[in-house]
Amino acid sequence: MNDSLRKAREYESGSHRTNACEPRPLFHLTAPVGWLNDPNGFSWYQGQYHLFYQYYPYDTKWGPVHWGHAVSTDLLHWTYLPAALAPGEEYDRDGCFSGSAITLKDGTHLLMYTGYVYDEDDPKHRGIQTQNIALGDGREYVKHSGNPVIRNEDIPDGGDPYDFRDPKIWMEEDGTLRAVIASGREDLGARILVFQSRDGLKWSYSHVLTENHLRFGRMWECPDYFELDGQEVLLVNAMDMNGEGTEFHSGNNGLYILGHWDPEKRSFQEQCVHTLDHGMDFYAGQTLTAPDGRRILIGWMQNPCTAYDHETDRSYFGQMSIPRELRICNGRLVQRPVREIERYRTDPVEYRNVQLQTESIQLDGISGRFLDMELTVRSADPNLDFERFEMRFAQNSDQYAQFIFIPKTKTACISRIHASTANDSLPQRQTELFEWNGNLSLRMILDTGSAEIFINDGETVFSMTLETASEANEITFISEGNLVLNVKTCKLDPTLR
Ligand code: FRU
Repeated sequence: MNDSLRKAREYESGSHRTNACEPRPLFHLTAPVGWLNDPNGFSWYQGQYHLFYQYYPYDTKWGPVHWGHAVSTDLLHWTYLPAALAPGEEYDRDGCFSGSAITLKDGTHLLMYTGYVYDEDDPKHRGIQTQNIALGDGREYVKHSGNPVIRNEDIPDGGDPYDFRDPKIWMEEDGTLRAVIASGREDLGARILVFQSRDGLKWSYSHVLTENHLRFGRMWECPDYFELDGQEVLLVNAMDMNGEGTEFHSGNNGLYILGHWDPEKRSFQEQCVHTLDHGMDFYAGQTLTAPDGRRILIGWMQNPCTAYDHETDRSYFGQMSIPRELRICNGRLVQRPVREIERYRTDPVEYRNVQLQTESIQLDGISGRFLDMELTVRSADPNLDFERFEMRFAQNSDQYAQFIFIPKTKTACISRIHASTANDSLPQRQTELFEWNGNLSLRMILDTGSAEIFINDGETVFSMTLETASEANEITFISEGNLVLNVKTCKLDPTLR
């Protein structure tokens, strides 16, 4: 164990670092203390889910990143383990950047991550990035003596050593390993490279999976690549995007690309590209395959464009999303909260066929801040759309967050404009739904620091963090035009296990 890992473990285990009275989400992982960004090494190993994360324990701002570590049996309750990796070797002196995990045939848990070292000679003060391995048993991890296992010399022509990171590994049926790695090309944009290995320790370059030709941002980070329901899915996180219509938002955004690798043309034939989550806060998503075969996605529920400048009085900053089950339906990637959350539902309250005629109502018992809500809305007259539906939540007399839907333009919007903090430069987002067939269905998971809204069975998703007081728990429904509402809420209680 290097000194920096020992120091981090001592620091994080000091209970005086955290304030037991400060609010913490109940179902969203936060760091025990300090800063958290991307999920890393999300995997099932020896009977538990393991989730590592980009972690800087000493401050609530990003710093030389470590790998924090937590385990769970249900993806919702996480137990912290001591930090797994800390920077300190010559190849990762300034950070153990993002990466992934896999179980080798002999039962070893292998972590592959990007080592980061500032280049003193670079006028832009960027860092050299290489790929490295650590081997472990689910608790202790030893960095491999042969690191880096993928060096800058291994990047094919034109690859930028300052933008080469975030390996995501998988195992082929024949037991050999592959990894997709994000790679930048000076002024030419992003590429996703595939590397291969027999044993996980010696790696060689295989091919370019795809490139962005400066479409969708200047660089792609944290790729993931898998097969789902007979379809190939590529997830990327695009940096510095320009907005395009209501589908693509400016800034940094997770995207999903459906298509297939054509071995003859040696290229990825793209079918469609969409924003993975239209909310303000979802980035660097990573997936695993659960023992029962489900493909599960978890993301950093924060936006890099706002997170790095945030201010907080709390002892921690950053949280993960609710893990989501992925499926392909009607040519789209759909996301639904993992079914394990249903075990924590209690105190159901349900209303059916509530008629709203240009009015604002609250319903007895429909309130709360730790909630799983299902809602459907349709026009009262099938031949005449209502004009606007709004739901206010996390509401008190001063503040509220909003979900708004306008049938005429199929526009759905989430907003925390009326609940924002002083430095919130991104208080709302909107998109156009794929379709409006007269019925809107919505599921919302509300926790003390966030709302995640899954529309039309997870076809469109919005995630946002919230800073409103935990006591702000009212919910109001507002209509313009005549509509009919069905709503069911259950409280989410973490003690129900
Ligand atoms: C994405 C990212 C990764 C990198 C890590 C560093 O949020 O920039 O590309 O590995 O964060 O913390």
